[in-house]
Amino acid sequence: MGVNLQLLGLQAIPRLAKKFNVKLEGFMALSDLYGRTPEGFQAAYKDCGKILNRFFEEFHVSWWDVYLNSDIGMERMALAKEIGLKEGDVVLDVGCGRGYFTIAAAKLVKEVVGLDIMDGGGRYGWWSNFKEAIVELKLTDKVSGLKADAQSVPLKDCSVDKAVAVHSIRNFQDERAIQNAMREMNRVISKDGEMVIVESIPIARNKAQEAHLALYRCKCKYSSGDLFYFTQEELLEMLEKAGLRGADSKVIDYNLSATPPIFYLNASLLKEERIKDAQMEYDKAIDLIKRHGEVSPPAVIIRVSKS
Ligand SMILES: C[S@@+](CC[C@H](N)C(=O)[O-])C[C@H]1O[C@@H](n2cnc3c(N)ncnc32)[C@H](O)[C@@H]1O
Repeated sequence: MGVNLQLLGLQAIPRLAKKFNVKLEGFMALSDLYGRTPEGFQAAYKDCGKILNRFFEEFHVSWWDVYLNSDIGMERMALAKEIGLKEGDVVLDVGCGRGYFTIAAAKLVKEVVGLDIMDGGGRYGWWSNFKEAIVELKLTDKVSGLKADAQSVPLKDCSVDKAVAVHSIRNFQDERAIQNAMREMNRVISKDGEMVIVESIPIARNKAQEAHLALYRCKCKYSSGDLFYFTQEELLEMLEKAGLRGADSKVIDYNLSATPPIFYLNASLLKEERIKDAQMEYDKAIDLIKRHGEVSPPAVIIRVSKS
């Protein structure tokens, strides 16, 4: 079982253990693992796989149980419901990554196309992670994957009911790429369709969210591939600049670890003069997580009808 599913497993295990009254010895929760090297994480994933196998064999737990008991799965399911996906919808999931939102959408609708550029950059093996999850959750008849750039979606005009980008545009190249993708999402939705953007915003309402923001900021500063969270105003401005008006937005705060900012500072990749500050910032963020845990900040759901 791949890392993708084991990450869900790490989050689900404490809830499953409580449900089946299982005592976990030596189990390390995700928040205990921050600060560990990638090898440390791999070892934890391996242990997690063993515990999950026990749940599968002794308690007939399924991968759906794992997904629905993980913070990631709980948040994506809540979002899919909040967005109001309907049974008959055809959904384009833009920047689907390893498929966390694709899975939630596929639980509610008849067809989901997961689109992602999958250009490496720390995301090696994500298509196989995506496919593995879709197979394990028995969604192959509803879900397909499309390797493409969201700036040029290889679908016809008006061919989907909803084009949704969940926790993905912050991984786009820059604001121009985001605006191009927004125009494409608008192009492919049907006359009565809707495009929906879900993005975390840089606001902390508690210490665990503060800890998340501190480590995510480090990740953005000292590795590549992540833009820092945009404010609600910045996101709305990008839509305006893309020529899309009439957006409706709502802030939600599920207070779950829905987008764990797993990041290990590799000082050897930094310029000498940056190492000291980077290490201090990183250590401070890890310390915050150890003391308060890690929870994703609030997110904004922005909906726009076809222009
Ligand atoms: C955080 S991940 C996926 C989040 C996922 N939707 C979820 O629910 O967890 C963001 C994804 O955006 C993708 N991405 C970045 N730039 C892109 C582009 N120009 N077109 C399509 N996908 C892109 C990345 O490859 C990455 O897999």
